[in-house]
Amino acid sequence: MNTRVLTGITTSGTPHLGNYAGAIRPAVQASTQPGVDAFFFMADYHALIKCDDPVRVARSRLEIAATWLAVGLDHERVTFYRQSDIPEIPELTWMLNCVTAKGLMNRAHAYKAAVDQNEAKGVEPDDGVTMGLFSYPVLMAADIVMFNANKVPVGRDQIQHLEMARDIAQRFNHLYGRDYFTLPEVVIEEEVATLPGLDGRKMSKSYNNTIPLFEGGASALRASVMRIVTDSRQPGEPKDAENSHLYTIYRAFATPQQSAAFRKQLEEGMGWGDAKQALYDHLENLLAPMREKYFDLMANPGRIEDILQAGAAKARKLSTPFMQELRQAVGLRNLQVASAAQGAPAKKEKGKGARFVSFRDEDGGFRFRLLAADGEELLLSQRFADPKEAGALMRRLQSEPADAVLQADGQGYAAVIDGVAVAAAPAGAQAEALERARAALASMAQE
Ligand code: TRP
Repeated sequence: MNTRVLTGITTSGTPHLGNYAGAIRPAVQASTQPGVDAFFFMADYHALIKCDDPVRVARSRLEIAATWLAVGLDHERVTFYRQSDIPEIPELTWMLNCVTAKGLMNRAHAYKAAVDQNEAKGVEPDDGVTMGLFSYPVLMAADIVMFNANKVPVGRDQIQHLEMARDIAQRFNHLYGRDYFTLPEVVIEEEVATLPGLDGRKMSKSYNNTIPLFEGGASALRASVMRIVTDSRQPGEPKDAENSHLYTIYRAFATPQQSAAFRKQLEEGMGWGDAKQALYDHLENLLAPMREKYFDLMANPGRIEDILQAGAAKARKLSTPFMQELRQAVGLRNLQVASAAQGAPAKKEKGKGARFVSFRDEDGGFRFRLLAADGEELLLSQRFADPKEAGALMRRLQSEPADAVLQADGQGYAAVIDGVAVAAAPAGAQAEALERARAALASMAQE
């Protein structure tokens, strides 16, 4: 079986050189490896969390799709799609929301950072925090487990999200008694270049220090390169190549031989102006052919749309049947099938013993059931206003001698504690189930 590699890119910005070196290029590269099935998608639902400007979101989706295609992504081979074209993803997100502990989300770095900032400002801790931001990791988990990805290449800032995806998937598998989801592994590419930006900090939209990849054409590229910070060494003075941002950027796009030659020139005193020109020439040489494809695609959005629609159809060949299976798993079943399956609950295969299951009834009262190991319902309790009372009775039922507690009565049997029938045979149970109920209680007493 091939390894499934999956990654997403949030469509809230315009791709820059750092995105290309750090994420796009390695992903495209990985997708060409034998034995790999790659899934690349545009996380446009995630974009809505960060960006409420519809023009920006729409533009970014187009730019990012055009970029991936222009740099050589083979869309026939890879499954390339938009998150929002896969309705199973938000559907699965809801199911995962229902098994995700709120406490787990409280610990998410992005959420905690927002709370810390609010506390520093002296405003409400959750000021400006949307449910989208809060449950961001759940949507991301759905992206990943929807396609049972084995490997997820991401930046370091996403490691925690991957851990959460594993947690959530594991919890679902455990609750529904089967390994529905593969647990994804995070892949952090140590080799991949983290580019410095114009000011030397990590190149990032949030620092406003980026070099555009294609937008703005050659002139914007040149203008940005000329703004990269350098030290004040004069032409003729030897430069410290290793510690210059210019060299770091150059190296990310050059062969070892080219890098060595550039380094030597710097160490022999090449002026920063000449070095910038050399870096620009090198980048332009590399990017110009891709940029041409990019602008060609941007001028033909219908072509991109067709490619993405075909990608969505390919992805949904997997997500649609899988979602059907998941709906079955949680009990969203065809009613005829559901009634035929009564008495054979999905959890049987977990090999659980007899157990109490407590629940709230329609009127908000607390009740519990005694289930046999095979899921047969053996007792249904009265209704209690206080869940503690129900809990205490379950413990009493387990600790008192089963033969004394369970008493046959006119229609069936009942569990009697201190002279009160606290639970009875469920409607339709046969009197002969009494023995099974006694055996179930006795088996629990031994645990
Ligand atoms: N959160 C990721 C980022 O900001 C983008 C993303 C969304 C993603 N869903 C994903 C990455 C699933 C990998 C897998 O970089």
